[in-house]
Amino acid sequence: MPEKLNLLIRPRRNRKSAAVRGLVKETLLSPSDLIYPLFIHEDREDVAIESMPGCHRWSLPGLVEEVGRAYVAGVRAIVFFPKIEESLKTSSGEECFNPDGLVPRAIKAVKAAYPDMAVITDVALDPYNSDGHDGIVEKQSNGELKILNDETVAVLCQQAVSHAEAGADIISPSDMMDGRIGAIRSALDAAGHEEVSILSYAVKYASAFYGPFRGALDSAPKDGDKKTYQMDPANSREALREADLDIAEGADMVMVKPAGPYLDIISLVRDAVDVPVAAYQVSGEYLMIKSAARDGWIDEDKVAMESLLGIKRAGADMILTYFAKDVAGRL
Ligand code: PBG
Repeated sequence: MPEKLNLLIRPRRNRKSAAVRGLVKETLLSPSDLIYPLFIHEDREDVAIESMPGCHRWSLPGLVEEVGRAYVAGVRAIVFFPKIEESLKTSSGEECFNPDGLVPRAIKAVKAAYPDMAVITDVALDPYNSDGHDGIVEKQSNGELKILNDETVAVLCQQAVSHAEAGADIISPSDMMDGRIGAIRSALDAAGHEEVSILSYAVKYASAFYGPFRGALDSAPKDGDKKTYQMDPANSREALREADLDIAEGADMVMVKPAGPYLDIISLVRDAVDVPVAAYQVSGEYLMIKSAARDGWIDEDKVAMESLLGIKRAGADMILTYFAKDVAGRL
C-alpha cells in the first residue's frame, strides 16, 4: 500500500460528481447570451456559403424560416449582413440608406413574424461600397487610399436612421470611423428614435480572421487593407481608449472583435467599463472549428461549446456566433 499523502486541501473534492460540479460552476452559457449573424441576399433561393460550411445566404422567405428555427432553439437576437448586387455599389454607398433596400425589408419581414426577436443591424459601408471599404475611399496622388472619416460618418448616420425607421432594435456600427457613435446617436434622436440602442464595435481589430466572411459577401477591399481604421492586433491600451470614447459618445454596449484570439482584451474591457460587453466569434474562428471537425480531428459540438464558454468566462456578456442556433438548441 502506498503511503497516504497528508493533504489538508484536495481541490478534486469540488469535482467529484456532476452534482457537485454543477454547484461550483462559475460560468453558465445561456441561449439568451447568443446573437445569431445571418447573411441575406436578393435572390429567391437560399444558397449554401462555400467558405462557411453550415451558413447560407438567405432569401427573405428563407431568412424568416431560419429565424423561426433559431427562435425555437431559444435564440432571441439576430444580426443581418447583406450581400449587395454589384450594380448597386457606388463609391459613397448610397444604397445603404435606401428605405426599400434589402436590410430594411429583412427587418420588417422578421419583425412581422417574430416581434420579440431583437433585430440588430450592422452599420458600415463595405457591402455597398464599390471599393469594398467600410468608408468612402479617396485615392491620393501617391496612389495610396485614404478612407474619409467625416464624410463617411454622414452616410452612416443616414444608414442607421433607415434601419431604425424599418424597426431595428439595436444599431451596430462596425466601421471604426472616429466620432460615429455620437453622430449616430444624435441622428437617431433627431429622427425620434431615442429608444433604439447602439452596440458599438468599439474594439475591432484589423484581423485576418475575417477572411471567410468577406468571401461570403464578396466584400473584400478591392485595394489596400483596413489598417488605417481597424486596430493593430498588437495593441491593448488602445482598446480601452476606443471603448471609453464610444461610451462617452452614447454607446449602450461595446464589442470586442474577434473573440477567441483576444480573450485578454475582452477581460481588460470588461474590467474597465460599466456597460455590457459583447464579443464576436468571427468567421475564421468558426471555420477553424468547422473544418477541423469535418476532417474528424475534433468534436465540433464540444469544441464549439468550450470556445463560447471561454469567451463568456473572459467577460463577454453576449456573444455573436455562427454556432448560435446549434448551441442554443443544445443548452
Ligand atoms: C464589416 C464587417 C466585417 C465583419 C463584420 N462586419 C468584416 C470586416 O471588417 O472586414 C466580420 C465578421 C466575421 O468575420 O465573421 N464591417
